[in-house]
Amino acid sequence: MARTAPPPMSRTLVKDALNATAPADAIFLQGWVRTRRDAKAFSFIELNDGSCLKGLQVIVDASLPDYANVARANTGASVEVHGKLVESKGGGQKWEVVAEKFTVLGEADNTYPLQKKGHTLEFLREIAHLRPRSNLFGAVFRVRSRLAYAVHQFFQERGFHYVHTPIITASDAEGAGDMFRVTTLDLENPPRGEDKHVDNAKDFFGKKTFLTVSGQLEGEIFAHALSNIYTFGPTFRAENSNTSRHAAEFWMIEPEVAFCDLAGNMDLAEAFVKHLIRDAKEHCAADLEFFAKFVDKDLLTRLDFVLERPFQRCSYTEAVAILEKSGKTWEHPVSWGANLQAEHERYLTEEHFKCPVTVYNYPRAIKAFYMRQNGEADGRETVAAMDLLVPGIGEIIGGSQREERLDKLRAGMALHHLDEKAYWWYLDLRRYGSVPHAGFGLGFERMLMFVTGVGNIRDVIPFARTPGTADF
Ligand code: 4AD
Ligand code: MG
Repeated sequence: MARTAPPPMSRTLVKDALNATAPADAIFLQGWVRTRRDAKAFSFIELNDGSCLKGLQVIVDASLPDYANVARANTGASVEVHGKLVESKGGGQKWEVVAEKFTVLGEADNTYPLQKKGHTLEFLREIAHLRPRSNLFGAVFRVRSRLAYAVHQFFQERGFHYVHTPIITASDAEGAGDMFRVTTLDLENPPRGEDKHVDNAKDFFGKKTFLTVSGQLEGEIFAHALSNIYTFGPTFRAENSNTSRHAAEFWMIEPEVAFCDLAGNMDLAEAFVKHLIRDAKEHCAADLEFFAKFVDKDLLTRLDFVLERPFQRCSYTEAVAILEKSGKTWEHPVSWGANLQAEHERYLTEEHFKCPVTVYNYPRAIKAFYMRQNGEADGRETVAAMDLLVPGIGEIIGGSQREERLDKLRAGMALHHLDEKAYWWYLDLRRYGSVPHAGFGLGFERMLMFVTGVGNIRDVIPFARTPGTADF
């Protein structure tokens, strides 16, 4: 009988090697060289494969036939190692690998930008194709991956169904108009109607279309059929705000719950945020410790503090009173009816409540058309809106109970000068089996900033899209 060659030895990830419970006579690793130290009789190589923050120390003895390869294993090179996993004699690590075979797959010369020295975050953004190989960004993107999984876990375990809402849309979900146009029309020479205006009926979809700012309206359709749903996908905003908390392309999680009011919505938001923090603490402990050491020394105490306490709740009217009484001078003046600005939000959560706070019942005129009208009290009209504010960031969640009454919704659309014809299907939901319902949107990048302590949204998204930048 023909004998087949033994199967190739399967690769062990550094993470699993570091967590080994016993030595191993044969182990096979692949990864990138972080550092190399040459002594007389051997070389030390720190091997990292991105499976975890820490690298694994590899010792290549100078007597090894492959030792000549070591000279080519500079920082950044990709290598393969066959060897033994043995208990480490040096401090700092439990295991190390004694190489028996050592191969360089891809060299990296001394122009490799991630040599072992501190780089600024700004510089690392310019090399977004290499920065995931740094400790900081490896950690950020492992946490991002884990929390994306935890999002699904949270909702799936609670009987929510995941809905893929469209990315290209003809409706402006927020009625705010900060949308990117999607068109295949020839911009140099677009078709024009008799009135000389561009003829959008000749565009790809037969009408004007955009990248979505939110999946909420389509999410509401599905909540009226499947009861509890969530979306999780990219959203786009053409707002020209060059801040550390705004991106033109970001990911949003939007649950929508039928038979739910504003209080139920706040409870869900709080449970969700706490779930994500707990999950990161449990599954990304080493990465969070790294952030606490190098990014934000108060991170772990703040996360514990947030987990342990109920979030505060405060009406918009109370919030305005608190701000007026604060004795602070504001860049944007505070008065009932004006939108809360970042400086106000940060004061409420960081200085006044010193804890996450949900502000609810905002003036009707400054909020979206779909929010449920509370009626008038003391000459002030409010809607059942809520924003969750957290220390260090400000608004992380925006949501509301939705207006389920047809006549009131039409009044809301009229107030915001929206064309009913464009929202005919949204109005139909109020004509057929309408129910009280509520939902919210969590900005995934803002949540990641909160969990990692990283201060700029550009550093928690693999390839940031902000005004003036769309590299990679
Ligand atoms: O408050 P927003 O605009 O709410 C909505 O879009 C609703 N349709 C959500 C809903 O009720 N289903 O956005 C929700 C969250 C914000 O609280 C913020 O965390 C994030 O999305 N967000 C942004 N994140 C990064 N960059 C931007 N430009 C963002 N705009 C909003
Ligand atoms: Mg908002």
